[in-house]
Parts: sequence; C-alpha cells; structure tokens
Amino acid sequence: MKIGFLKSEVSPIMPHVIKELKKINLDVFFEEGIAEIANISDEELEQEGAKKLSKKEILSLCDILVYYKFNYEDIEYIKRESTIIGLCDPYINKDKIKLLLEKQLLVFSLELIPRISRAQNMDVLSSMATITGYKAVLIAAYHFNRIFPMLMTPAGNLLPAKVFVIGAGVAGLSAISTAKRLGAVVSAYDIRPAVKEQIESLGAKFVDFGLFGQETGYGYAKVMDEEFYKKQRELMKEYIKDIDIIITTASVLGARAPILITKDMVEVMKKGSIIVDLAIERGGNCEISKYNEIYDYNGVKIIALPNLPSSLPYHSSFLYSNNIKNFLKIIAKDGRLNLDLNDEIIRETILVNRGKINEKFN
Ligand code: NAI
Repeated sequence: MKIGFLKSEVSPIMPHVIKELKKINLDVFFEEGIAEIANISDEELEQEGAKKLSKKEILSLCDILVYYKFNYEDIEYIKRESTIIGLCDPYINKDKIKLLLEKQLLVFSLELIPRISRAQNMDVLSSMATITGYKAVLIAAYHFNRIFPMLMTPAGNLLPAKVFVIGAGVAGLSAISTAKRLGAVVSAYDIRPAVKEQIESLGAKFVDFGLFGQETGYGYAKVMDEEFYKKQRELMKEYIKDIDIIITTASVLGARAPILITKDMVEVMKKGSIIVDLAIERGGNCEISKYNEIYDYNGVKIIALPNLPSSLPYHSSFLYSNNIKNFLKIIAKDGRLNLDLNDEIIRETILVNRGKINEKFN
C-alpha cells in the first residue's frame, strides 16, 4: 500500500520513522521539500527509502494520505476510497465534513484520539501543546521589560517575575515548568481540581479561588454557563493586579474558548505586563486579543499568535511524525489497513468512514 506525506508548517514525516513504516510494509512517498522547514533535506528522507513526488502525484497515487492540518481544498484531487490522516478540525469545519462523503474516503481526524493511556504516544494535541506552552513563555520573556529570576547584583537586587497560568492542561503545565526553569515565581489555576497536585509537583502555587467546574469523560473541561465565567473573572481581577505575565490556555472541547480576561481586567494590570493568549485559535481567552498580533493596550502587551508549534519546526515535526508512526502501527499491518472497530482508538478517531459521518458531527 502506498502512503503519501504532504507538506505543511510541521512535517508529518522525518527520516527516523521511515524504517518503522517499512516494517509494516508501507511504500513511502513524500511531497518535495516536505521537511525543509525542519532543516531536513529530501535526500535524507530518500536515503531511508522514501520516494519524492509532486503534491499532485501523491494525491492521485497514494492510498493513505498523511497531513499535519488537512486541506479540504485537496478533496477534488484525491483518488476515490483513499484514507486520510491529519488534523481536520472537525468542530470548526462542521460544514466541510460532508465534502468528504462523495469519494468514499476513510478519514481519521487526530483531534479525536481518545485520551487514554494507550493512546498517549499518538496524542498529537499533547505533543503540540507541550511545544506551545514552552514557546509561550519564551515569547513572554522576550517582550517583558524585566528578567525572570531574582538576582542580587552589586548594583541592586532584581525581583523575580510573577507568572500566572490560567488553564493547567498540557500547554499550561509545559508553560509552568518553563517559567519555573527561568526563575519566575509561578502560580496557576484550572477549573479541574485534579490538576492542583500536578501544578504543585512542578513547584508552582495552585491558586484556589474555590471555584471548580466539571470534566468530561476524556479529561476535557466542560462548558460552564456565563454566570460561572463571570464569577471567575471577578475572582481573578483582584489576583492579577500583582501579576507580571499571564499565560492563558483555557479551552473547552468543541466550543469557543471562554473569555476569562476582559478589558477592565487588563486595565488593572501594571504597565509593562504581558498576556499570552494561547487560546487564540479558539477565539481567545482575553476579550481584546487580536488574532496574530502583539497588541499594546494601556501599556499591557497582549500576544495572540496562532500556530506556535510551527515556530519550533524540528521538534514539532519530530513529535508529530512519531505520533503518526504510532497511529499507523495500530491501523495498518502487513501493508494493508487493519481496522478493528472494537479498538476504541480506531473507532473514536474516525471522522468519516466511506460515506458515513461520525455521529458526533452528523
Ligand atoms: P484543553 O486544551 O482542552 O484545555 C486546557 C486547560 O484549560 C484544561 O486543563 C482545562 O481544564 C482548562 N480550562 C478550561 N476552561 C477553563 C476555565 N474556565 N478556567 C480555567 N481553566 C479552564 O486540555 P488539554 O491540555 O488538552 O488536556 C487536559 C487534560 O487531559 C490533561 O491535563 C490530561 O489530564 C488529559 N490528557 C490525557 C491524555 C491521555 O491520557 N492520552 C492526553 C492529553 C490530555
């Protein structure tokens, strides 16, 4: 069976995974220049036994197509009955899903991988969130007008930066540990009580506002009502007066990210403070974030840059290609698809199965 990898801002293939793909008898093709973004040449991929083709050739020839973010505009060039693997963003693209029906495609949308321990090594969202949380702190440090650690110098003592992380999931925990390593005083808050211990184990303080939400089956926070979010904002408004850097990561599966920082809250922050809004791809956690901008409001910089994994392309591609390889190992065997629909990982990740849409999106 022929598998083709398509070019994007994160490479779905890296040289080290090719041997593993060959072990499951896949004939590996890649789009010209696919891993240049990660400073990997086509020759390095070819040396491992993969073959270079144009995008058009891959779409018309391969049985399995692997994307980072699936491009719905490619559908018309894809051959019938192909299998697609990638991030399809099904909650945002609900109206585009029906475009996948006509060609009898089998589509795996990797956001749907269930959060169970067996699926951890293929959990793309975790991989990308780990990179995102790290980069968010570096961006904040770059734009901050002070240093992070406490420093005693002959010329005077420097106080440490106070970093507050809202939402301590994968990105939040990665941000906490990065900010700690840089020497900041770090605190964090989440509506899932389970994270208190995780925050504390990283040496940060859990800010207990006495306000908790609920979890869905797979560890995602549930959408709360506007009254709840209003209460949260009131409680946080007081706390953030003394904070230098806020990193927000709060997301809710399938819905717009909650607004947790309003304009009047930004107004109470000290001039020179920073907000990094990591929820910007889901609408943002800060009311006045501007997509893909670093925006100065009243002396506070609000940073809302999307796609942070693509700013660290080597490691994003390394993790993503590993996730893909691990996923392929459960859906393919001896050069063929091997779909056991009793397997929760396979069943839950299917967005469209040969003309039938996953009932969650129908
Ligand atoms: P996410 O990206 O959906 O949300 C980020 C964080 O924001 C979550 O911790 C959530 O509780 C929090 N949040 C949502 N609304 C909030 C609000 N109003 N105020 C404050 N915080 C709010 O979640 P993420 O980071 O993708 O994963 C969450 C959890 O799922 C992880 O901590 C982990 O326990 C679990 N997980 C398990 C995996 C596995 O076992 N394979 C893989 C990935 C995650």
